[in-house]
Amino acid sequence: MKGVLLHGGFGTRLRPLTHTGPKQMIRVAGKPVSQWALEDLRDSGVREIAIILGELAPERVVEFYGDGRWLAMKLTYIYQGYPYGLAHAVYLARDFVGDDPFVVYLGDNILVEGISGYVKRFLDGDADAMILLTEVPEPQRFGVAEFDEEGRLKRLVEKPKVPPSNYALVGVYFFRPPHIFKVIEGLKPSWRGELEITDAIQGLIDRGLKVDYAIVEGWWKDTGTPEDILEANRLLLDYKYREAVVKSEVEDDVSIEGRVYIDDGAVIKAGSVVRGPTYIGKNTVVGPNTYIGPYTSVGNNCRIVNVEIENSVVMDNVVLKDVGERIIDSLIGSGAKITHGEDKPRGVRFIVGEQTVVKL
Ligand code: G1P
Repeated sequence: MKGVLLHGGFGTRLRPLTHTGPKQMIRVAGKPVSQWALEDLRDSGVREIAIILGELAPERVVEFYGDGRWLAMKLTYIYQGYPYGLAHAVYLARDFVGDDPFVVYLGDNILVEGISGYVKRFLDGDADAMILLTEVPEPQRFGVAEFDEEGRLKRLVEKPKVPPSNYALVGVYFFRPPHIFKVIEGLKPSWRGELEITDAIQGLIDRGLKVDYAIVEGWWKDTGTPEDILEANRLLLDYKYREAVVKSEVEDDVSIEGRVYIDDGAVIKAGSVVRGPTYIGKNTVVGPNTYIGPYTSVGNNCRIVNVEIENSVVMDNVVLKDVGERIIDSLIGSGAKITHGEDKPRGVRFIVGEQTVVKL
């Protein structure tokens, strides 16, 4: 089975974090969101993957993942250019896929329990397609399934105003060529001007082809908003880091509590408390006199000095120093600097990017 990882979109609801790169590269619990997806594919036995790149800094994705050998995968890149929708992105992979069954994984989706069971189920069966569904509180934000009296899949609708059920389409889809590509060739753009993957699967149903479904019971998230990122971070820290691993240097008078993962080259300086579940990246310096509270992920090469922070995600190369207040529920983009000014007149000074949120 081959894999197609969709890596496009503008991530508008995550600006300013997505002004400089794709949302799938935001680090959650120590890895970019799309790396969690790639590792899920690999661990499910899908090692040959095409990554479909969007218009926003695609070179950053290529630079980070390379040929994929470091992840024990074989990666190919396909440029989508203008985002004509998920079905268009899938269509671009038709030569890569050839005659093989394949799985499409949206690079901003996280399924904590992974897809290996579904991969097996699809390969063991003979369906032309298989979708994953899960019950959600706000189905109008997603593609939604409608069932007949026997519980068979009847219809799929993209972002319906009046949802026919609470079952949303998860961003993982399984196909056996060639029908899906034929249907996409005949698709018309939706009201949002895109070729919808949901409409393509509806096309398979309309042609009488076999579309199977499975219900995802484990936790699933599509990481479109800052709240989604913080929630994904909490869940991944809980689920993926089951025991404390401290690879760093730890000075005296430091308290490390609970499931804390501290990567190579980091230093925890005197007078600091690190309380798990927490992830601290490579070469990051914490302290002196710093509190890193539960559900916090700190990236690589950061300096967190005389600061209290919890339930937050801090990207790479960030400096947080002498911030008087405890930082909570925050997303801090790479290269950001938050410090306490000593200058006169005293006050808070901001150089804040577009659509930044600051709450004092
Ligand atoms: C896309 C699909 C939608 C699906 C969702 C899952 O939505 O169109 O059917 O439920 O992914 O993440 P989008 O992210 O394009 O709004």
